[in-house]
Amino acid sequence: MYAKELIERAKKARENAYAPYSKFKVGAAILTEDGEIYTGVNVENASFGLTVCAERVALFKAVSDGKRSFKAIAVVADTEEPVPPCGACRQVLSEFGDMEVIMANLKGDVKIARLRDLLPDSFKFEEGKR
Ligand code: THU
Repeated sequence: MYAKELIERAKKARENAYAPYSKFKVGAAILTEDGEIYTGVNVENASFGLTVCAERVALFKAVSDGKRSFKAIAVVADTEEPVPPCGACRQVLSEFGDMEVIMANLKGDVKIARLRDLLPDSFKFEEGKR
C-alpha cells in the first residue's frame, strides 16, 4: 500500500521544514494519479501570516510540474494525535477533487479520511451573473 511510503516520504521531508517561529515542523507527501510523489514542508516567515503549510507546498510543486489529479496526501508532525490538515489547505486541495488524506504522527499513529469528508461543501467557483 502507498500509505506507508507516503508517510515515510513526508517524515523525511519534514526534516527540512522551515519553522523557526513555531518550531512546529510539518512534512507532506502527495501522490499523483500517475504514480509520482511530491513532498512539501511548512515554510514560515517573519511576517507570520505569510507562512505556507506543508500540504500546499507539496501540492503546488506537483501542480507546477503539470500534475492535476491526485490519489492521496500524507501529512506528518510530532503531535499526540495524527495531524489533520488546516481548513485553508483542505479548500486548496479540494480544487483538484477528492483524494485520500493520510494523517500521521512520529509515533506511528495513522488516521485516514477522504478530503470530501474533511471538507464537505467546499467552495467551487461558478460564473456569476454580472
Ligand atoms: N502547518 C502546516 O504545515 N500544515 C497544517 O495543516 C497545519 C499547520 C504549519 C504552519 C505553521 O508553520 C505551523 O504548522 C504552525 O501552525
